[in-house]
Amino acid sequence: MAEPYSLQQYIDDLRQLAADTDDENVIFERLAPLAGRVVADPSWLQAKHYQSDAEQGFGVHLLHEEDDHSLAVFAVNWMPGRGTPPHDHGTWAVVAGIEGVEHNVRYARVDDASRDDYAELEVKTAFDAGPGEVLCIHTGGIHKVSNETDTLTLSLHTYGRHVNYTNRSQFDLESNERKAFKLNVE
Ligand SMILES: [Fe+2]
Repeated sequence: MAEPYSLQQYIDDLRQLAADTDDENVIFERLAPLAGRVVADPSWLQAKHYQSDAEQGFGVHLLHEEDDHSLAVFAVNWMPGRGTPPHDHGTWAVVAGIEGVEHNVRYARVDDASRDDYAELEVKTAFDAGPGEVLCIHTGGIHKVSNETDTLTLSLHTYGRHVNYTNRSQFDLESNERKAFKLNVE
C-alpha cells in the first residue's frame, strides 16, 4: 500500500523543487509523480471545492500560493458541458485529474506572433484525461479544457505562478483575437 501523502507534503516538496531548479523539464519530471500521489488520496478535498461559478462555467479554489504569487495550487472543477476558451498560462502548469474525465485540446500557434492582439492556432492533439492522469504544459503552451460529461469534474492544478498574475492570454478561434484571461478565484 502506498504511503499517505498529504497536500502539505506536496506543497513542501513543490517549494523544495522550485528552490532546486527552474528547468521546466526537471520540474515536470519530478512534480508529475508527486501530483499523481496527492490526487490518489484526495482526503484534503473539502465540500467547497465542488462549488462552481456558473457564469464562468468552472470553479477555481486556491489551495496555496507563495507571498509573491509563485507556486500556486488550485482545485478546479468544471460544470457539465462547460469549459475554457483556448488559453496559455504565462508560466508552467501541471494538472492532475481527481474526478471525472476532462477533454483537452492542445494548440500550436501558427502565425508569426508579430501582433499582441492576434493569433492563429492549429489543433495539435485532443485527448481525454481521467483521475490520476497528469498533464504538463510548458510556459507558452496553449490548450483548452472542457467537461463533455454530465457530472462535475475536478482536478488539481499547479502553476509556477498564480495565473491571474502572469499576463496570460485567451484566444478566439473564430476572430483570431488574443486578449487577457483572468479567472474568478474563490
Ligand atoms: Fe489551462
